[in-house]
Amino acid sequence: MFSHERIIIRRGPESGLPIIVAVHSTALGQALGGCRFKPYADWRDGLADALRLSTAMTAKCALAGLPNGGGKTVIVGDRSRGEAALHDVGAVIEELGGSYATGPDVGTGPDDMVTIGARTSHVFCRPVAAGGSGDSSPGTAVGTVAALRAVCEAQFGSPDLARRSFSVLGLGRVGGRVARLLAETGAKLLVTDVDPAKRALADELGAGWVTPDEGLTAAVDVVVPAALGGVLTPASVAALRCSAVAGPANNQLDAEPTADLLHARGILWAPDYVVSAGGVISATAAELRHETPAQVAARLDGIAGTLAGVFAAARRDDVTPAAAAAAEARRRVLTPPG
Ligand SMILES: NC(=O)c1ccc[n+]([C@@H]2O[C@H](COP(=O)([O-])OP(=O)(O)OC[C@H]3O[C@@H](n4cnc5c(N)ncnc54)[C@H](O)[C@@H]3O)[C@@H](O)[C@H]2O)c1
Repeated sequence: MFSHERIIIRRGPESGLPIIVAVHSTALGQALGGCRFKPYADWRDGLADALRLSTAMTAKCALAGLPNGGGKTVIVGDRSRGEAALHDVGAVIEELGGSYATGPDVGTGPDDMVTIGARTSHVFCRPVAAGGSGDSSPGTAVGTVAALRAVCEAQFGSPDLARRSFSVLGLGRVGGRVARLLAETGAKLLVTDVDPAKRALADELGAGWVTPDEGLTAAVDVVVPAALGGVLTPASVAALRCSAVAGPANNQLDAEPTADLLHARGILWAPDYVVSAGGVISATAAELRHETPAQVAARLDGIAGTLAGVFAAARRDDVTPAAAAAAEARRRVLTPPG
């Protein structure tokens, strides 16, 4: 989109681990983005993740209509020095003086936000008992289902999920809830996870259980990536047998041109940062704007309208939904409301 405002890379004084905080944009307001804690092979891989994910957070907040920008924290390492590393992160965020706040991401959870919160107040999603809004994945799941309605409307002419088939890849905090919500509509469901223990949920929902490879290439209406990123590559796109791909997993495309391959095959891809905005929408609604449950529900439902707008712009301008979403995000960031 454009270059980062600030990038801090430091060996944490308490943990000795590489701590990376990337603030991409504060043009629309305080930058938001979770804290990823992961043992990368090289700290530069962590930096690449922080840069990519913080840029996506700017687009996510802009398209969600939030008065926020994008940032990201990455701790490179395992959890053996977890508490010290989280304190290091808190110290860096405190130095930024409120221009950036963090929350949970891969490798961290609400309890870790309490630990970061020992050094800074700029932290979201502490447990409810500790004064935060807790786990954001229920909001992400509800927003994902709203997005799936928009996808079905655009691709099949009706938002009715009950008439469609879905393959959910990953039954974690978000994917498990999405599968449950889809099952409640009566939709036909295949599910998969690398963790065999998740098969119990498939049985409970009456969903078919397949391997991750089978789930990705299943002949269903919509594949719903809800595990890790990078699932859409030139090879996997060539093997897809679905009509659309839409899910909450971050960074689903291995590279931007893969969106063109999906488009060329007539497979509708919903930009992941639009689909997965429910988490940040619900957390900021509860903690910053103190909105009622009805207001939060309306905002989550609004993801369907946002996505419909992206699809309409893509058709109008004869570009991919990825390009249309990126153009709209850029426009909003460069022309903040007065
Ligand atoms: N939690 C949120 O609120 C939120 C918000 C925005 C985006 N996301 C994104 O959504 C995705 C899922 O997040 P989550 O919080 O549910 O994570 P999670 O760790 O709770 O769940 C991920 C699940 O995917 C499974 N998995 C891992 N590799 C797999 C593979 N190759 N095939 C099938 N299953 C696999 C894991 O076993 C696990 O059950 C991530 O990409 C995350 O970045 C989450």
